[in-house]
Amino acid sequence: MVVTHPNSLAALPLATAYQTVRQLSEQICQPLEIEDYVVQSMPGASPLKWHLAHTAWFFETFVLIPHLKGYSVFNPQYDYLLNSYYESMGERVLASQRGTLSRPTVAEVYRYRAYVDEAMVALINHSQGEPTVASLVTLGIHHEQQHQEFLFTNIKHIFGNNPLRPIYRSDLVPSNPTATAPSLDWTDYSANLYSIGYDGDGFAFDNEQPRHQTYLHDYRLANRLVTNGEYLEFIQAGGYQNPEYWLSEGWAAARSQNWQAPLYWEQIDGDWWVMTLGGMGRLHLHEPVCHVSCYEADAYARWAGQRLPTEAEWEIAATDMPVTGNLLETDRLQPAPASDRQLFGDVWEWTTSTHQPYPGYRLEAGIVGEYNGKLMCNRLVLRGGSCVTPTNHIRPTYRNFYPPDTRWQFTGIRLADMGASFG
Ligand SMILES: [Fe+2]
Repeated sequence: MVVTHPNSLAALPLATAYQTVRQLSEQICQPLEIEDYVVQSMPGASPLKWHLAHTAWFFETFVLIPHLKGYSVFNPQYDYLLNSYYESMGERVLASQRGTLSRPTVAEVYRYRAYVDEAMVALINHSQGEPTVASLVTLGIHHEQQHQEFLFTNIKHIFGNNPLRPIYRSDLVPSNPTATAPSLDWTDYSANLYSIGYDGDGFAFDNEQPRHQTYLHDYRLANRLVTNGEYLEFIQAGGYQNPEYWLSEGWAAARSQNWQAPLYWEQIDGDWWVMTLGGMGRLHLHEPVCHVSCYEADAYARWAGQRLPTEAEWEIAATDMPVTGNLLETDRLQPAPASDRQLFGDVWEWTTSTHQPYPGYRLEAGIVGEYNGKLMCNRLVLRGGSCVTPTNHIRPTYRNFYPPDTRWQFTGIRLADMGASFG
């Protein structure tokens, strides 16, 4: 299966964009067996069939019910099963318990998706670009894309925790074991009053807005991501055994969860292997390190004598960069040795910035306000997208966010350092 995806969703008629994205979710699940859809491999990773059903529920609840006259809900009990975290929609199944539900069946989930799709296309075609409907449909499309990343990362977690180490796809674009990463170099940025945040005409989430000024001191940003080989040096130097490199909470997390290497790394007969969506493979030293928590990223940076960037430092460096790289369309589903100054793709890059409202952010009422606004505490911002992010989903201003102990997303490390004026 080769994933096909248009470069820009905004250039498509809304109904076409809707159908294209919805079909991709099902295309991602094509290689699965029926049993794969039901497993919940950890409390924070919902079963695959739940993601497929929840994204349909999102359109049904926030678009069809309020805006399609005469629409009849598929099953009124789904509110309780498929509401993720919307307090305005009432009580719901605990997220950690979703894997206990054998019903609805996978077949019924697909019937639900088809039922919603038929009504959605009818509504989009009838509404003739009515702004409220168009903006909700667009939000739902980007929401579905976020859950597509969850599909990939959850499949990897389910398979990575299975002793059989199943292969999701055997036809992926393979790693090139002879490819090398460019040498580590730095780009300098001068102290200045910069502007960050989104102010264009296309879609952006509310947490990317408003555009605002922020002062940055002189800083330097690495031209490429930290590689597996460099991270292996940290491991071999006793990085996981030495508390001097670790934040207090990071050290506690590493101890309590017995971290000795990134998630999915395995030492077999003295050699390092990694689990990928193409099955087990040898660790390639020149590929970017992946599946590290922010705590590990920060410990590595301290050990290396540098630091992680802030999100503003990252965004200023990315502002004029083309949105190209090892994103979903390369069909590798695994990081690859990056070219010089490539900021998009491969891995989400941890920053030290907490996910907080930008100056001037206004919490909107209802669904839009609950989407991101209530998640602005105890999460750190990640930038740049990963090898499972569609190109048409990522932007220089895009703010992803996770708790700092998260390892199951495609997360990696770009180093920053003080600028020249700090000597
Ligand atoms: Fe969701």
